[in-house]
Amino acid sequence: MSEHALQDLIARTRATLELIASQFSPAVFASSLAAEDMVLTDLILRAGLQDRIGIFSLETGRLHAETLEMFDRINATYGYQVEAYRPQPEAVEHYVRQHGLNAFYDSVELRKECCRIRKMEPLNRALAGKRAWVTGQRRAQSVTRAALDVQERDDAHGMEKFNPLADWSEQDVWDYIRANDVPYNRLHDQGFPSIGCQPCTRAIEPGEDVRAGRWWWENPDSKECGLHVVDGKLIRIKSHAATN
Ligand code: ADX
Ligand code: SF4
Repeated sequence: MSEHALQDLIARTRATLELIASQFSPAVFASSLAAEDMVLTDLILRAGLQDRIGIFSLETGRLHAETLEMFDRINATYGYQVEAYRPQPEAVEHYVRQHGLNAFYDSVELRKECCRIRKMEPLNRALAGKRAWVTGQRRAQSVTRAALDVQERDDAHGMEKFNPLADWSEQDVWDYIRANDVPYNRLHDQGFPSIGCQPCTRAIEPGEDVRAGRWWWENPDSKECGLHVVDGKLIRIKSHAATN
């Protein structure tokens, strides 16, 4: 993309964030602390929108040390403390006692149950009382995101959901990060284009799909953790939408 086109993309994304801040406050941005989310963090904090779009992260208890480090690195760069939402300890203990610490490798159901306890329930708490939430999802990331819109209705949470980077390519993300000296997770330099929980994320080989390292033992169509499904359905798989 030319420098001019990237500037247009950035201007449109800033306009989306301004719209959210002015019309959907209080809103929150869910940050996984990975590259896309650092672009949005930089745009929100540089524009001074953090009082109307607060930033939180689901700290699942299974994140890499490099990801946890981002809380302090963001604070050191911007003077902003990203809020951490953690799972209910009793729910985690119950799961581990019943199924084992790493039972998510055994079945899609046990994997989804772990994501429900460590991500979905804390997400519901983070979204309570908000009018909109923001994510760093991009269309090009996955088959499940091919029809992603910048603005959509999230009926499951009863609010608007914004994906301001829907149109961005991976290259746009990195061009922005480099041009603006945005701090980013060190794992991105070690073969991790997409970063989730440590046991469910591996590095990828050159030429592999960017999300190939996420829940790599599962079928690509099930590889969403539940944060971005509605009524249990992956609503954006255009070709599957009628049958799902
Ligand atoms: S996902 O499959 O884990 O949902 P991905 O890592 O590609 O996918 O993240 C997509 C978006 O979901 C992120 O841009 C972010 O908005 C949100 N998200 C994912 N993980 C977290 C997390 N741990 N905390 C907060 N938001 C998250
Ligand atoms: Fe559990 Fe893995 Fe989901 Fe993290 S990504 S919540 S460790 S199943």
